[in-house]
Amino acid sequence: MTARLVVLASGNGTNLQAIIDACDATINTVQQLDAQVVGVVSNKHEAFALNRAECHKVETAVVAAKPHETRPQYDARLAQIVGAWQPHIIVLAGFMRVLSNSFLSQFPNQVINIHPALPGQLPGVHAIERAFTEFVQGSRRETGVMVHFVPDEGVDNGPVIAQQIVPIHVADTLSSLEARVHATEHTLVIHALQQLITQQKAPTS
Ligand code: GAR
Repeated sequence: MTARLVVLASGNGTNLQAIIDACDATINTVQQLDAQVVGVVSNKHEAFALNRAECHKVETAVVAAKPHETRPQYDARLAQIVGAWQPHIIVLAGFMRVLSNSFLSQFPNQVINIHPALPGQLPGVHAIERAFTEFVQGSRRETGVMVHFVPDEGVDNGPVIAQQIVPIHVADTLSSLEARVHATEHTLVIHALQQLITQQKAPTS
């Protein structure tokens, strides 16, 4: 059975693009990712991720926060919209809101997050920029990427599905490092999804 993916994104959507492309691609007639992106949600109307989805005829929804709405209220609304697509896996691909249990409890073991740093390092926003600053200051030699489950309200923290070190070179600028980290994310997220989809297909004894 083809896995149904819902992707949540707030920005550019390059990871979303990598996922859509992998769903479309075949290597030696074997599908790279036996999955379909059935919906994309953003909290921002202007997110370019929405344009990418529309170009590929993927359904989209904008769930913008309402004034005075609490986080659990927002997350309950979001859960209803995401749940209608009946996803097997929900990918947070640059979704810049922390999800509360009001969302997560609806999708146990189904929500995964991409973070541009290694486990336990640099949680939150601007992780690549902070890694580069630490490198320049001499307190860091490398950074990385991880894909992990989102079991609770912890920020960029949870059981790791896949991780990869990204070296930082003396000649790097912030933009060359960003390009290397993003390229790593685009392959690592596909690797993590392949792993999860294979596990979901495996018969349980
Ligand atoms: C990616 O670098 C992703 O790892 C990061 O947001 C970017 C989204 O890029 N996520 C986080 O920092 C989560 N804390 P994209 O919109 O081009 O996929």
